[in-house]
Amino acid sequence: MDSNLKLSKLMAISVLLVLLRLRSWANAKPEVPCFFIFGDSFSDNGNNNDLKTLAKVDYPPYGNDFPLGPTGRFTNGRNLQDFIVELLGFKNYIPSFSEVKETGKNILRGVNYASGSAGILDETGKYNVGARIPLTQQIIQNHKIIIQDITKGMQNDLPAAKKLLNKCIYSIQVGSNDYINNYFIPKFYDTSRRYSLSAFTDLLIQQLSNQIKVLYDNSARKFAVYGLPPIGCTPNAISLYGTTNGSPCVDKLNQAAVIFNEKLTPLIYQLNNNLTHAKFTYLNPSGSPIDPAEIVKNGTCCKTGGGAGELCIRNSKPCSNPKKHIFWDGVHLTEDQMQVMANNAYSCSSPVCANPFNLHKLAML
Ligand SMILES: *[C@@H]1O[C@H](CO)[C@@H](O)[C@H](O)[C@H]1NC(C)=O
Ligand SMILES: *[C@@H]1O[C@H](CO)[C@@H](O)[C@H](O)[C@H]1NC(C)=O
Repeated sequence: MDSNLKLSKLMAISVLLVLLRLRSWANAKPEVPCFFIFGDSFSDNGNNNDLKTLAKVDYPPYGNDFPLGPTGRFTNGRNLQDFIVELLGFKNYIPSFSEVKETGKNILRGVNYASGSAGILDETGKYNVGARIPLTQQIIQNHKIIIQDITKGMQNDLPAAKKLLNKCIYSIQVGSNDYINNYFIPKFYDTSRRYSLSAFTDLLIQQLSNQIKVLYDNSARKFAVYGLPPIGCTPNAISLYGTTNGSPCVDKLNQAAVIFNEKLTPLIYQLNNNLTHAKFTYLNPSGSPIDPAEIVKNGTCCKTGGGAGELCIRNSKPCSNPKKHIFWDGVHLTEDQMQVMANNAYSCSSPVCANPFNLHKLAML
């Protein structure tokens, strides 16, 4: 009798749970109405395809594990932002700015402006890689075009457009190229002769701050700003610069990333304090530092030598199991590692990877 009662209680609870689940499926709506993406190749989903640049990947084996094949994503499958878009509950990926321009796709759920080799500084990537869309252009030019189109689409109802733009998440993942495709290539760029590493980083943070304020002035209120991963541990960095003192990675590059992150964190605090009704969070979801012995052992999944040497060779045959590799090419992670980063950004609970809150919390605020 007693155990029967327990059993029926349990059954009632599980029926309830199933119903609740069905309800949440039926109502499945993304956690935020829109998501705008700014950044570089970790986020780019095709914006470089029509540009004259070494940094484009609209050819196999890129996209080998992506349903649409090579789309300009710098990995074998979904990239960092694709996974985040899924976690936020969107049913479709966010279209690239170049695709939106050509097809007039729905822009009300957001646009991806990210561009491989782009940096915070306009010149980053220009002399050694080629055309790219720097962060400034992504924000003050391309995003403004989209805002105008959104407003037009809403019969020029400015308050309604503003209300929508207030609710979106604005993701900014940029800065690696200002070091690896600028400061640390003195052959092409004079920044290392003009600035100490610390002064150069101050310049980056100042410029980033200005650009973020432009977004704020254009009704952005929810910001996710990414710190830099250990850029000295990529196979490309190790082969270009070598390692010293028994260190497995290129220390000077990793040190630059650490300095950048140390200066970005207080900026995020200040912006949270200074900009009314705005919520900023700092994300650094690279996870535990990659064990470089593993990198060397496992190697890149594809054969590198494309692009400026760091990308996969066009039409080369990739490894048979990308899951066994951290790196897809000389710089970019495999899809599985991208997913690890996305999961961290979305749900990690330590201030090391999300400070003061993770993406899920940011969406719910
Ligand atoms: C925030 O406000 C303080 C005090 O006015 C100011 O010193 C600081 O530069 C501001 N920071 C930013 C990033 O706007
Ligand atoms: C590297 O390869 C080995 C052997 O295939 C595998 O066991 C290991 O998990 C791989 N490491 C990573 C980080 O993928």
